[in-house]
Amino acid sequence: MNEELIEQIKNQALQDGVPIMADEGIDYVKRFLRDSQVTSMLEIGTAVGYSSIVFASFVEGLRIVTLENDPERYRKAVENIARANLEDRITAINADARTYHLDEKFQCLFLDGPKAHNEELYKIYRDNLTDDGIIIVDDVYLYGILDDPQRKIKRRLRPLVTKLRNFREEMLSDPAYESEYLKIGDGLLICKKRETISNE
Ligand SMILES: C[S@@+](CC[C@H](N)C(=O)[O-])C[C@H]1O[C@@H](n2cnc3c(N)ncnc32)[C@H](O)[C@@H]1O
Repeated sequence: MNEELIEQIKNQALQDGVPIMADEGIDYVKRFLRDSQVTSMLEIGTAVGYSSIVFASFVEGLRIVTLENDPERYRKAVENIARANLEDRITAINADARTYHLDEKFQCLFLDGPKAHNEELYKIYRDNLTDDGIIIVDDVYLYGILDDPQRKIKRRLRPLVTKLRNFREEMLSDPAYESEYLKIGDGLLICKKRETISNE
């Protein structure tokens, strides 16, 4: 494993103020991916490649396509992926995930990009999931704000809170998925597609 390099990438990202997954969250997700034998992932929100490098280093054979719209972060991610010798398993693409199109199917869709657009991104990319697909959404805790209806929320945060709350509730109540919300790291939503029952 690229442990030393991963630590360097993480520390550099924290130093540069680049948002990356919290330790507890990334640790949980990498084990979940390995235990679920996930072999392909579409990640929205590469940043500098930290999460994709951790996942690909930990989960044998996992292939990742990851989208990032910030050119500087994308450039850094490409550099980090090369340093980790993972160019054959991680493909970083410099694109706006809200307008990009992919034909490929993936076993896992990992939403860790623009939080306010999670629902929109889910709707764009749900057709890219395989029949046994899993959706993982990071950062659904929002410092506990979402779980505390009594809390006073600053006016500018209200639209984001409403969007995040609605999306989380929709996913948790959607019968097409077996979903759980975990207060791990920055809050994770894990939704596994249920098998569709045919009437034939
Ligand atoms: C929380 S960070 C990703 C962290 C990364 N997954 C990790 O843990 O190492 C979210 C990233 O999404 C990117 N982003 C925001 N809007 C985007 C969009 N429309 N398309 C693609 N990437 C976007 C941001 O530039 C930022 O780097």
